[in-house]
Amino acid sequence: MKSDAAIGVCYYPEHWPETMWADDARRMRGIGITRVRIGEFAWSRLEPEPGRYDFDWLARAVDALHAEGLGVILGTPTATPPKWLVDRMPDMLAVDHHGRVRGFGSRRHYCFSHIGYRRECARIVAALAERFGKHPGVVGWQTDNEYGCHNTVRSYSKSATLGFRHWLADRYGTVGALNEAWGNVFWSMEYRDFDEVDLPSGAVTETNPSHRADFDRYSSDQVRAFNKVQTDVIRTLAPTHDITHNFMTFHVDFEHFHVMGDMDVATWDSYPLGSIDTFPGDPVHKATYARTGDPDMQAFHHDLYRATGRGRFGIMEQQPGPVNWAQYNTDALPGLVRLWGMEGFAHGAEMVAYFRWRQAPFAQEQYHAGLNLPDNQPDRAYFEVGDLARDLFVLGTMGRVTQARVAIVYSYEAQWLLRAQPQGQNFSYIEQIFSIYRQLRELGLDIDMVGPDGDVSGYDLVILPSTPHVPDRLAAALNAYEGTLLVMPRTGSRTRSHCIPENLAPGPLAAKLGVRVTRAESYRKGSAVAVQIDNEDFTFDRWREFVTPQGADVVATMADGQAALTRKGRAYYLAGAPDNALLARLIGKLVKEAGIATDDLPKGLRTRRRGPYRFAFNYGPDAVDVSAVLGKDLLLGEAVLQVGGYAVAREAR
Ligand code: GAL
Repeated sequence: MKSDAAIGVCYYPEHWPETMWADDARRMRGIGITRVRIGEFAWSRLEPEPGRYDFDWLARAVDALHAEGLGVILGTPTATPPKWLVDRMPDMLAVDHHGRVRGFGSRRHYCFSHIGYRRECARIVAALAERFGKHPGVVGWQTDNEYGCHNTVRSYSKSATLGFRHWLADRYGTVGALNEAWGNVFWSMEYRDFDEVDLPSGAVTETNPSHRADFDRYSSDQVRAFNKVQTDVIRTLAPTHDITHNFMTFHVDFEHFHVMGDMDVATWDSYPLGSIDTFPGDPVHKATYARTGDPDMQAFHHDLYRATGRGRFGIMEQQPGPVNWAQYNTDALPGLVRLWGMEGFAHGAEMVAYFRWRQAPFAQEQYHAGLNLPDNQPDRAYFEVGDLARDLFVLGTMGRVTQARVAIVYSYEAQWLLRAQPQGQNFSYIEQIFSIYRQLRELGLDIDMVGPDGDVSGYDLVILPSTPHVPDRLAAALNAYEGTLLVMPRTGSRTRSHCIPENLAPGPLAAKLGVRVTRAESYRKGSAVAVQIDNEDFTFDRWREFVTPQGADVVATMADGQAALTRKGRAYYLAGAPDNALLARLIGKLVKEAGIATDDLPKGLRTRRRGPYRFAFNYGPDAVDVSAVLGKDLLLGEAVLQVGGYAVAREAR
């Protein structure tokens, strides 16, 4: 049977003797791999001296892979400019917010704003695309590598300062308009000319949040512009090829929806064990899932990147075993390498590529596992990838995922604005949206993410996490939306330039929600405010607001009588940050009201539908019986699913 799910691998021919390449390609094909990403860090070998290209070795590597029927995704090498280039153009280096230059010796040592470096990128990408754009072995391109990794989106360089001034002049027209929009009369921060504006760093105390919000937007726009330099070249010279970039876990520093405007497929790099160790979370939870990964983190990003890719996404790097970069690097339980791959496909991935073919015996990532050991013996992941390929063969063509009934609106800008003026240290957008996502998934639901420009009209339930600035289009879409809507606190509390709206929060959603927010308070976790809902007690555990209903009914109150949850028609406003139990109760209630059927999933079990199939994944900690969820007739897996296992059934309905 034909499959629409490709398995890939990341491969570094330049790290290995050429005598190994043909055998590597043969063995890749042998375990079911059909895609190989190469080249993304190879600049020093592709252009060893200024202007002297050496692409012949790359051509031979592509040929070796192509000879086995493998399709190559060619990475542009711009995340690792070589030493000679940096020495020729030292001001291309990024500068951190303390003013320190971020030098050569690792990777991502460039400033997105540097026009000279962009030209160098256009040059090397054009040379590569001229040579490989029509090569039958090349099927697609990856631009650069992990924009923003190692905290590299914002640079405080001279180029960024000049670029920011231009950007502001374009946006505001006159410096008076800028002063007005930012409220610079406050503390005599007014400017007489755009050339007087510096970057928001180095001041005595906090800089104006409007200044920072615009610098975040500016920095994000530079990522898009930098990327577009490359996609424009590739489009011209390799017009039939898909272009992608590999995004990251919980990365918020640039607007991925915008950057994807110039590409075809969104891909992301999935490191479940590195990520559960690195990202904030309860230590008991981290310990429970240390060898499996968080049950929702991978799915969250599959759904997010499917949205950024307008339905088309994949995984460019999938963890194969221990990584090298978390604080503690655990090994995966047997089966997880296979499970993570299948879960990607269940969410609609076109490809899951594993990082990397063979563990590197040198340099920074020596402890990072691969499918093969440094001595070229197959490691555990090699066999699991083979198992995954066999399972995909059983499933055949899966088709695309269909629209879910629940949508969560995801906003990058919201995260910049909340970070610009947090007002409570523990208020976290990511934590909030991820908790919402988790609660919905625990009910066995499929979820779509929708960007601020996305279409919410076809959903039965839409949840808008704390979104300080609600852009006009989103406001219009939500005001016209007729299904069940839940709006979280702080929404509509700021204008685009980060000021309080004339009609106060929730700004453009005031009529829809029928409320006006007059005050907010934040507090430490542990000094919670009691909330009663349906005669049960819960809390707002870090944030609450004082809300005056203006047409809305009060559905639940806080202990001191303040409105906790209001409702106007089918639109709800929650006036605080809920504890998990309250969030679960509320979501359960709204899902029911929206008429959406749910499952009662055992702990650690998660499901997803794609095409004719429903998948179940057991993240543990215990073996579970999946027959209540999937029925008795399983295409893959056992009714009693072990930790790290998955099962697939044809959907009854
Ligand atoms: C990714 C990166 C890869 C490799 C990998 C190790 O962030 O794109 O180049 O460093 O991490 O886990």
